[in-house]
Amino acid sequence: MQINLLRKLPPAGVRIRWQEIIYTIFGYIFLQNHKQKLTNDVKKYFNVKYCFFVNSGRSALALILLSLMKKDKRRELIMPGYTCFSVPASIKRAGLKIRLIDFSNDSFEYNFKLLEKAINPETLAVILVYPFGLSVNVTRIKRLAETRNIYFIEDAAQAMGLKVNNQYAGCIGDVGFFSLGKGKPVTSIKGGIIVTNNETIAENIDREIEILKRPSFLENLYIIMVALFMKIFINPYLYWVLDFVWFIKLGETVYNPRFKIGLMPKAAVILAKMMLKRLDEVNRERTIKANNFSKRLSQISEIKTIQGYKSQDSLFLRFPVLVGSSELRLEIYKRLSKMGISMMYSGTIETINEPDLFSEKNFPCLRANKVAERLLTLPTHDYVNDDDIKSIVSIILETISGFKRRDGQN
Ligand SMILES: Cc1ncc(COP(=O)(O)O)c(C=O)c1O
Repeated sequence: MQINLLRKLPPAGVRIRWQEIIYTIFGYIFLQNHKQKLTNDVKKYFNVKYCFFVNSGRSALALILLSLMKKDKRRELIMPGYTCFSVPASIKRAGLKIRLIDFSNDSFEYNFKLLEKAINPETLAVILVYPFGLSVNVTRIKRLAETRNIYFIEDAAQAMGLKVNNQYAGCIGDVGFFSLGKGKPVTSIKGGIIVTNNETIAENIDREIEILKRPSFLENLYIIMVALFMKIFINPYLYWVLDFVWFIKLGETVYNPRFKIGLMPKAAVILAKMMLKRLDEVNRERTIKANNFSKRLSQISEIKTIQGYKSQDSLFLRFPVLVGSSELRLEIYKRLSKMGISMMYSGTIETINEPDLFSEKNFPCLRANKVAERLLTLPTHDYVNDDDIKSIVSIILETISGFKRRDGQN
């Protein structure tokens, strides 16, 4: 397989348009009612009563938790054994303890029996994540949360625009949030949106948000600068330049609870408003690429594709597949790294070494481990073309054949 070494796929790639950047600069200087306009658009699109704009998805989750904790003494939170490290970082930041729940067989869905058993008088809420924008069985979690009287939080950071049973992910539970970070299909460079239909929760979040300082000029400048850098350098032939720009990091997220909680800068609000108009189009394009991967990979017996819940459509921030062993996965990633493709998370949540992060009742997530060590997540972003998909699939197949030959000889 010939690889063009001058061409490297960025780990995440959203194509920001020149007119969006120009409008953001213009709007930052001249616009006044930007926040109200974005509020109207979000409420209308997602059909929600309340929304709030903050500086990241992790801030959104931390603020949600702080507001739920205000009048509630329960201090445990249920989350999945494998997801983005920002989720435990926000939980730690809010001062809650984590109770991890394992996946059911080779999927990202909670093992429902374990989930039911884990709920106890200390449980404040359960978080449902839509991993890589995949649909999940949200109805049964919602019902369980209602009957057991705990809050139901939807982490739709990776699933903005996903519909499950005709409702938008993030807007089904008591409260939800989206991320508009640099790696997301619709980005404001830094940003998070909290959505809820619950008046009491909205009032409490409003109180938490009121005390946050207004973003500085430098924070706004950062948004504009990064949007400009991304516009110019997120391109498979120029991406290497961004490796030298210290304030732009794309790709793997690490656990860090010491993040800044703040409001969404004005420039980010304006950019978000522009990009939101393209949400459906961007999601549609990602789905087409995911279907292309699926067509090429789902017939291969050594590969298991993960498609989400039943017939519901998924969005595919990345396309997840499971291979036979962790050794095979590492070898595939090693070969894919020549095209610029790397893994997303370094391990499961229980690998985080942080005192007092977990509840004492926590138990190991064996299936989540099994998924994590066999998982490949393949890029579906704007800069991935048909030839890239063919090359990625060939590399995977060649590596599998190599392993089969080697095992045959032993
Ligand atoms: C599942 C999930 N939750 C939360 C977050 C946090 O969002 P942000 O990076 O905007 O803080 C992310 C970020 O990628 C995520 O993937």
